[in-house]
Amino acid sequence: MTSATFPATADLSTAQLRAVATGEQRSLAEALAAMQPWTTLDISADELAQYLSSEDGGAQRYAVAVDGALAGIVSLRFPWLKGPYIELLAVLPTHQGHGLGTEILSFVEAETRRFGGRNVWVCASGFNDRAQHFYRRCGFVEVGSVPDLVADGFSETLLRKPLT
Ligand SMILES: CC(C)(COP(=O)(O)OP(=O)(O)OC[C@H]1O[C@@H](n2cnc3c(N)ncnc32)[C@H](O)[C@@H]1OP(=O)(O)O)[C@@H](O)C(=O)NCCC(=O)NCCS
Repeated sequence: MTSATFPATADLSTAQLRAVATGEQRSLAEALAAMQPWTTLDISADELAQYLSSEDGGAQRYAVAVDGALAGIVSLRFPWLKGPYIELLAVLPTHQGHGLGTEILSFVEAETRRFGGRNVWVCASGFNDRAQHFYRRCGFVEVGSVPDLVADGFSETLLRKPLT
């Protein structure tokens, strides 16, 4: 029988997924606060640090490491709607554009298929053109637009990748 959970750690082809160490939460929060979409959404490093250090039994959070160096973070909310919701995916700037995001999405998709999930879900800010392109290139389709979901005046696009 396959378990409907994500593994605690995973070895991808170029990256490792593992727990976020306590000392990494602040540095990740500061890096994210200096990146899009969080700069435009005006989400501070303090808010992000609080989120990253909060206990949350409904989410599986991974630090993304490449050759031992911190390269990003991914947080999966599961169960969600017949599959996981990627509530956070960030590849740090020096690691972007090298296929890491695609590799992480492939992992999420493969694990979701393994336990019989039918969808992978994610939101991307409407103004975040690169993320919108990235998810669509990886097979996600727009389901709808949710105004003021994360911050007033900004819409989030809800995207779904159907796995059936
Ligand atoms: C969006 C993101 C997760 C993609 O991860 P990545 O490792 O850079 O993506 P990959 O290398 O696998 O794929 C790159 C593709 O995504 C697009 N892309 C998105 N952001 C990019 C970036 N900063 N640099 C280069 N390509 C980027 C490119 O257009 C490219 O598409 P193409 O191959 O058709 O040209 C990553 O760039 C990131 O963390 N961005 C900032 C945070 C963010 O927007 N997160 C998602 C929404 S919450």
